[in-house]
Amino acid sequence: MSAPERIPARRVSDQDLVLLARGELRVQGQIRDASNAVLLCTVTHEGREARCVYKPVRGERPLWDFPDGTLAQREVAAYEVCEALGWGLVPPTVLRDGPYGEGMCQLWIDGPADDAEDAEDAEDAEALGVGRLLALVDAQEPAEGWKAIGFAEVEEGRTALLVHADDPRLRRLAVLDAVINNGDRKGGHLLVDAGDHLYGIDHGVTFNVEDKLRTLLWGWAGEPLTEEATGALEGLRERLRDGEPLAVRLGELITGAELEAVRERVAALLKSGRHREPSGEWPAIPWPPI
Ligand SMILES: Nc1ncnc2c1ncn2[C@@H]1O[C@H](COP(=O)(O)OP(=O)(O)O)[C@@H](O)[C@H]1O
Ligand SMILES: [Mg+2]
Repeated sequence: MSAPERIPARRVSDQDLVLLARGELRVQGQIRDASNAVLLCTVTHEGREARCVYKPVRGERPLWDFPDGTLAQREVAAYEVCEALGWGLVPPTVLRDGPYGEGMCQLWIDGPADDAEDAEDAEDAEALGVGRLLALVDAQEPAEGWKAIGFAEVEEGRTALLVHADDPRLRRLAVLDAVINNGDRKGGHLLVDAGDHLYGIDHGVTFNVEDKLRTLLWGWAGEPLTEEATGALEGLRERLRDGEPLAVRLGELITGAELEAVRERVAALLKSGRHREPSGEWPAIPWPPI
């Protein structure tokens, strides 16, 4: 496996954040089949324009186990924590006012298939993107370069092995998810852009004080954390101390108990030096997984 140090982490420019936070937001359409209101918008500021998603708080479906704050705040908190780890795995995300009130605004990530001229092109492009990261295979063991997630019943009486790539970017994402306690890391929440940069999206169900980790990325469970991840977690631990700007910011986005739970999860990862293992007998996997 290539050394994690060599994975480029996309650096977020301040310009992206200014554009998202201050730009004029125009709604272009609504993403269908989303569980909350997810609006595709353009944002324009001082001659720059970008596409983004805007999820107004008003469009959030209430969740009984997330009674405090808003899902939008949790999405921003996930972005802030990821930036503190230095991994650039979450597209730039801000909290702001918009045409339907306060919400989260996140840079839109074009997949390789978005530039495709026809359906065949789109399929080829998809195979190069997320298609290279997740697969269902007719086997008992993962092939070289893949990690097993578990068996899934693909049709009545037939099971297949769900696998993810042994990819250093996914490995970082597995650590981020353990820190933010992500309850919904499924295939559709992984995006790969044309430059082959990996992003995770949809971080509304995160930061609960209870263990809610539900993910596909169990392939490294119980294995030692990479040195690079340990260093990043040590840096994060410092930045989570009372009074540090990150801690202050998170204090505005999640509850005090939830912030304390983040500190505890970081401490537990550093103490064990290993990737999270499932808390139950079976790994908690989102359904449907892809
Ligand atoms: N930043 C983004 N870039 C590109 N596509 C996105 C982005 N955010 C969301 N999407 C698209 O919109 C869909 C719904 O968004 P998601 O965040 O999963 O909303 P929900 O909370 O309703 O599940 C995603 O599955 C994805 O296809
Ligand atoms: Mg979703």
